[in-house]
Amino acid sequence: MKEVTTSRNRKRKRQRNSKEEPCESPKNKNNDKKMQRDTKNDGGSSALSKRPKPSNFLDTLREKLSGGNFRRLNEKLYTCSGKEALDYFNEDPTLFDMYHTGYQQQMTNWPELPVNSIINWLSSKSSSLVVADFGCGDARIAKSVKNKVFSFDLVSKDPSVIACDMSNTPLESSSVDVAVFCLSLMGTNYSSFIKEAHRVLRPRHSLGVFNSGWLLIAEVKSRFDPNNGGADPKDFVKAVSDLGFTSSLKDFSNKMFILLHFKKKEKPNSNKKKIEWPELKACLYKRR
Ligand SMILES: C[S@@+](CC[C@H](N)C(=O)[O-])C[C@H]1O[C@@H](n2cnc3c(N)ncnc32)[C@H](O)[C@@H]1O
Repeated sequence: MKEVTTSRNRKRKRQRNSKEEPCESPKNKNNDKKMQRDTKNDGGSSALSKRPKPSNFLDTLREKLSGGNFRRLNEKLYTCSGKEALDYFNEDPTLFDMYHTGYQQQMTNWPELPVNSIINWLSSKSSSLVVADFGCGDARIAKSVKNKVFSFDLVSKDPSVIACDMSNTPLESSSVDVAVFCLSLMGTNYSSFIKEAHRVLRPRHSLGVFNSGWLLIAEVKSRFDPNNGGADPKDFVKAVSDLGFTSSLKDFSNKMFILLHFKKKEKPNSNKKKIEWPELKACLYKRR
């Protein structure tokens, strides 16, 4: 039966459309009932409940616009190269703040943050290990561990962060022990980010450092779900291994993200055949 368009119907429709749905959201998973309840009650995002309720029409409008801006910037980062992303944010660095405000709001929906898993892992190892954090965001890793951390991102909001496209960092070759990508394999040329990490990493057991050569990757789980248009994790692990790493951990236990650990091989691969990098699908946030 055709829906009769009354002003009440139109209002309901507008309310439905304003809700953000992340590509990887606890409310998409049936087994987190509490999160579903929270999400329902606060109109689509438990993050919203932690902020003051918009008091008037203008506040509501501002919220909608900032959600829309975040979605647009997020999509941009997933659908352009690292170099294009750098040029884009260089033109207007305020867009970076806009992206990160939206990103932080989205992350309040995640029961556990992958960056904390990485911080815990680093804290369990020697603090003498030198770390490179590729796509560091608010540089939480550098702020949380005792290690020397080189933090890279497209825009520097903190003197400790080096602004660059992470496919081309100013680090010396073989100069760091741990390379981290936490939700940051966003560019269409993501393989060049991993190649850069390979260049700057010391091989395992090099120069008297026994525990070097770590590559730690945390990524949104749906990007590695072949049943849902994502990459086959086996293809990804194979590509990274062909570059010159050995896989040491594949952890799919978290609902929202996967953790992959590799160690740089002592000698480069002798087989120079072309590496088949699987496409990693963009993690987009839909309007519902
Ligand atoms: C989803 S955020 C994750 C931030 C942080 N790693 C965390 O876990 O909270 C991804 C970050 O990667 C950065 N990024 C994306 N492509 C980049 C590139 N080509 N070079 C440097 N940073 C990049 C973005 O600017 C963004 O800050």
